Amino acid sequence: MYPAQLASPYLDRLSAAAAQRYKALGIVRDDPDRPMKIAALNSEAFGAPVVLFCYLDRTMGPGQWGDAGMYLQTVMLLLRAEGLHSCPQVMWTMYRKTVSQIVGADDGLVLFCGVAVGFEKEGVPRLRTGRADMTETVSFIGV
Ligand SMILES: Cc1cc2nc3c(=O)[nH]c(=O)nc-3n(C[C@H](O)[C@H](O)[C@H](O)COP(=O)(O)O)c2cc1C
Repeated sequence: MYPAQLASPYLDRLSAAAAQRYKALGIVRDDPDRPMKIAALNSEAFGAPVVLFCYLDRTMGPGQWGDAGMYLQTVMLLLRAEGLHSCPQVMWTMYRKTVSQIVGADDGLVLFCGVAVGFEKEGVPRLRTGRADMTETVSFIGV
């Protein structure tokens, strides 16, 4: 799902975001069953009734992978316009063979990610995962 040698600051941000998200779902960091519980929640699409699977033609390159991210962002915004919520899930790529069998995707397609879609559960405290400050993530050149 991620580069094998994911270094700082990316790895730190990834684990901080995961810690926040899964703590909000009741899974604490020192729980010995944490990996299993995280996998279970993800495989249940966090309770959403629908998962979209986004595939790219295997011949596509980095530019087209960027296009797919932008495309999915638009899909997610359109879902909000319909009152729905969504959650991209790259975790499905760990089970790409099974997913491809079920949805009937051939070897010419590569799974980018799943997107869980559903209505927000009411009464659950809202969590917005922390974001790194823009001064850390963006360089304005010539300003
Ligand atoms: C392409 C992509 C793949 C993701 N895959 C997963 C995933 O497999 N499991 C997961 O819990 N969160 C995953 N996330 C993170 C969540 O979908 C979500 O973006 C994050 O929790 C921030 O949510 P917020 O904007 O509501 O704070 C992924 C995000 C992106 C953009």
